[in-house]
Amino acid sequence: MKACRIEQSIRILLSPMEAPANGNNSVSGIKGLRFLVIQTLVTLTTLKWVLLSTIAGIIVGIPTAIFLRLLDGGIDIVYEMPFFYLLIPVGLVTSYLLVSRLAPDAKGHGTEQVIDAIHHRDGTIDLKVVPVKMVATLVTLILGGSAGKEGPSAQIGAGVASGFARLIHMNKLDKQRFVLCGISAGFSGVFGTPIAGAIFASEVLSIGRFHYNRLLPALIASFVSLFITSTLGVRHLSFAVDYTISTEVVVLFQMVGFGLAIGMLAVLFIFVLTRTEHLFERISLPGGVKALVGGLILIAVVLVTGTTNYIGLGMELIDLALDGEPYRGIAPFFKMVTTSVTLSAGGSGGILTPVFFIGTMAGNFWAQIFSLDIAVYSAIGMIAFLAATTNTPIASAFMAFELFGLGTGSWAAIAAAVSYLIVGHLSVFPSQIIYQKKTFFADLEVHDVPIHLSMSGIRRVFSAFFRGYRDERDEAMTPGGVSIAENERHRFDEQVKPHTPGRTYYPLSTVPHTPTRTYADVPEGVESMEEKHRLTMQEQVDKVREYVDSASRICVLTGAGISAECGIPTFRDAQTGYWARFDPAEIATPEAFKENPARVWSWYAARRQALLRVDPGPGHLALVRMEGFADRVTVVTQNVDGLHHRAGSSHVLDIHGNLLRVRCTNGCVAFHRNEKTPEALAAFEGDMAAGFAAEAAERDEDFNEIEVPKCPRCGENLRPDVIWFGEMLPTTRLEAAFAEAERCDLFFSIGTSAQVQPASSLPRIAADRGVPLIEINPEPTPLTDRATISIRGGAGDVLSRVL
Ligand code: APR
Repeated sequence: MKACRIEQSIRILLSPMEAPANGNNSVSGIKGLRFLVIQTLVTLTTLKWVLLSTIAGIIVGIPTAIFLRLLDGGIDIVYEMPFFYLLIPVGLVTSYLLVSRLAPDAKGHGTEQVIDAIHHRDGTIDLKVVPVKMVATLVTLILGGSAGKEGPSAQIGAGVASGFARLIHMNKLDKQRFVLCGISAGFSGVFGTPIAGAIFASEVLSIGRFHYNRLLPALIASFVSLFITSTLGVRHLSFAVDYTISTEVVVLFQMVGFGLAIGMLAVLFIFVLTRTEHLFERISLPGGVKALVGGLILIAVVLVTGTTNYIGLGMELIDLALDGEPYRGIAPFFKMVTTSVTLSAGGSGGILTPVFFIGTMAGNFWAQIFSLDIAVYSAIGMIAFLAATTNTPIASAFMAFELFGLGTGSWAAIAAAVSYLIVGHLSVFPSQIIYQKKTFFADLEVHDVPIHLSMSGIRRVFSAFFRGYRDERDEAMTPGGVSIAENERHRFDEQVKPHTPGRTYYPLSTVPHTPTRTYADVPEGVESMEEKHRLTMQEQVDKVREYVDSASRICVLTGAGISAECGIPTFRDAQTGYWARFDPAEIATPEAFKENPARVWSWYAARRQALLRVDPGPGHLALVRMEGFADRVTVVTQNVDGLHHRAGSSHVLDIHGNLLRVRCTNGCVAFHRNEKTPEALAAFEGDMAAGFAAEAAERDEDFNEIEVPKCPRCGENLRPDVIWFGEMLPTTRLEAAFAEAERCDLFFSIGTSAQVQPASSLPRIAADRGVPLIEINPEPTPLTDRATISIRGGAGDVLSRVL
């Protein structure tokens, strides 16, 4: 009897549609059992990763140690020879030939290729890369090329990890995580800083997003690789720079100033690196000849400067600088040139050791100019330059703690945070994805914001800065994510109450599962895809699942249908749609607002009030889950309800605006409902008052009496920040949406009648490119005949089956 109950409970847990509508199971019993099952799975997953990442640490640590030992041995021999630098061209030409002939994927400076493989190829790295990268880097570095050793170690490690993952048939997500261990194990094996290595791996994939679920594997792989490499005789970095923490405010500001300078130096380095790469690409000479030219340039640098300081790894100089030995201010610039030339001309090697060199030398010289402690500033320079060039401020701070102790590390963290911001959206790893902008102003060019270089043009840009750029402010203020409590409630509600009374559902049960059924309600000329392909609903769902599994960049267009499941009316439904009850010309145009602001304000206020009473629906939540299946899921929504933001989707482009925002008709201010400035609150108090009047408006009572809230700055009417008919869409968001339609490899059109331009062009653009187009809608639409699969059903129900 008991076993039977348990079995029944498990069925309820695993199959939401089978849950009894008002079963006798005690809700707390189900909750307890569910918690137990899930907790066991969570623990098993954790243990699985302890095991897998230990394996990763071993299989990455061993080749890394071999590589490092060979490198040290080779350098010890070659650097003893007189005029060894004359061998540089040989090194570069050999490296070029090896890579181009045997494994073109081994090109580049290592870490960048691993990031790219994780983002775009599910972490797949050709096994051939491992030996080729190893030999090419050894030849480059031993014969005097200027580059680093951690990138190749990461690439070698990730290559081995990727091979192992394929061997044991790991799924896509696990493989990405496993391959990432290659970066952390490579980093820690080379530098001997396991925590920094793990944080680096979790931080380096994207700007502004720390991958917490990759931290444990990265940490364990890091530590194991450190043990292995130490046991196999690799010498790691160790310095004795520590600075007693002083509470002097002046030191704080010194760090800010230093961070600014280092950030600008990082901009220069990235510029020199990319320009040199482009230059070498453009020269129309065979690759081998370019490598030869590169080698000759490096020899020229040695002859001009009279020193071999700027070629090779440069580790001894970093050591000496960190001991307080003063170096010339020109040192960072020469190293920038030799490194850029080495890597652009066909040499193989990493970027971080040169980054350490440049940062250390910059700090060294800065300390000489301002009569500060040379050793300490060399150390902080190294860390701040690392943070800026790789966009990894947290890993850099940890590296400072591990290498230089808490004292120096604490100050370095401040300089690193400043330099990280100053460098903007630049990086030595261009495959990094920007998840969170550092500032909108770093991106003006990207967003095609015109800057007229006249006095008035420049003044306008700066006044935008002081006023706050409206579009960006909106984005920063949108609430993101579902709280743990909300998530828990939703999951449980979904499972025990599949049909919430009072909500509009289009359950799958109304959709027949027989393959031969013809839809009576399909208008003439529009053939349903189910008909077209003779697929059952389940087959369609399975197919969509396959598309999702193999996609890496998904673009989703949503419309009112996805929110209909939360009880928000659509626009074009014949009975309940807004446009069946209201004339858009009277409430959704700028002219209507001019003519009767109170009427328009109250209509929107009523919708806002209604909106505040609903939660994101199953469709919104499923799209958040979709993010676990692809590198990037962009939701372009025509809805102004902000429910995608509230559900927690990471990339939402609300191209029709947002009902929870208001702005001044003159364009001087914009507020979000959640904003807590006194002005915003005052505006929303007015809004609340309007809300009550709005409810009256819904009952056709007199709403002309309400007072439209005024802009606290200029006194003009405030208006909802939504796009009305005849108005321009926000350029930035719209362009980003079009760019996504051009780049994605899978497109979903969900819950939209696909009748309103320009949004309705987006799925067509994707379909024209041959990208699979999936439509989810209980009704056929003008898009149906273009869709690869068009599923008749409610967004939440279908998406929950797929994801
Ligand atoms: N799941 C999926 N789709 C649904 C569901 C559901 N549960 N319920 C209804 N739909 C579908 C309807 O069949 C319809 O095709 O959602 C669509 C809603 O269409 P519209 O009301 O026209 O909404 P939308 O396409 O978002 O309108 C676009 O028009 O007036 C403007 O600015 C307004 O953003 C809006 C734009």
